[in-house]
Amino acid sequence: MTGMPVQERIVTVDTPSRTYDVHVGSGMLEQVGPLVREACTGEVACVISDSTVAQLYADRVLASLASAGWKTALLTFPAGEASKRISTYGKLLEGLAAAGLTRDDCIVALGGGVTGDMAGFAAATYLRGCEVAQVPTSLLAMVDSSVGGKTAVDLEAGKNLAGAFFQPSIVVADVDCLDTISHDLITDSCGEVIKHAVLSDPALFDELGRTPLNGGDLSRDALVRIVARNVEIKRDVVDADEREQGLRQTLNLGHTIGHAIEAASDYHLGHGSSVAAGMCCMARGLARLGETDEDVARRITTIVARYGLPTDTDVDHSVLLRLAHSDKKRHGDSINIVVPHAIGSVSVEKVSCERLASIIDAGCGTKER
Ligand code: GLY
Repeated sequence: MTGMPVQERIVTVDTPSRTYDVHVGSGMLEQVGPLVREACTGEVACVISDSTVAQLYADRVLASLASAGWKTALLTFPAGEASKRISTYGKLLEGLAAAGLTRDDCIVALGGGVTGDMAGFAAATYLRGCEVAQVPTSLLAMVDSSVGGKTAVDLEAGKNLAGAFFQPSIVVADVDCLDTISHDLITDSCGEVIKHAVLSDPALFDELGRTPLNGGDLSRDALVRIVARNVEIKRDVVDADEREQGLRQTLNLGHTIGHAIEAASDYHLGHGSSVAAGMCCMARGLARLGETDEDVARRITTIVARYGLPTDTDVDHSVLLRLAHSDKKRHGDSINIVVPHAIGSVSVEKVSCERLASIIDAGCGTKER
């Protein structure tokens, strides 16, 4: 570290429903109050956070909000994916009402993906919609879930099955928060970072291969630049297709098989790790069937392995097929898959269940052969 001030980067997201800035920098938690003041209306800012993140950062964020003239409230829920359910969401709505939040006031979602998704869904539905500021504290939330307006809670029937597209009014990402994230969780999130590079940035792909993001030797400036670049990649997609009618489906690269791997592990394998394995299996399967280049599959598998992420799965193929086919992104009897043609070039293709079975057979469990 040089001791030089770290340059803040601002990425503007411009969707049909809302235009907003994503601020990425170091020391940003102290800026949350004034930034939310500029972006949001109202008098009350209600911070929603989980028990772990609240203990680490809520005081600083509440103080920053108060210093910018906000009346504040704090609602917390137990940390963990198990909290991402209707009952917690219901309690949050009751808490917002008890705090006297009006439609003009705002919610500040402070935390990782679970918090952002659930607080975002509360904002989308409380009084038919109030503003939300996303303050992501995990790498996955910074590079992916805080941007683009997908909000959700899980149902007994599956993950993220109730939700809404609801864009935030501002996103403030402080990379200093990553200091308190475990190496394993950073590594898991790198699955989505690698996915972004495969989607649209060969230079980022090369950089991630040279200097792994989970290696611990990146300067704050490099971290800010890489997080902001990921936000730009996602921004370019959601600006063009906010509601996942077309281009946004490319963000599901690795997810068709990845979701199946994740579900088969009963969600013990992390989302980013599952996506990484799903991306490798899909690329390898397509390459073996002659539908993409062997070299693309090799390069994706090499970088995923370099990060210590899984490159394959030993889950039974019939189980993978059943779980992939029960995904909410299925359309009738066909499913859209994302085909990597080169690093930086992908397309969405509709395939039948039989075709997906062939890809899974060709690309999964290859170590056993
Ligand atoms: N995480 C994929 C999307 O936001 O569309």
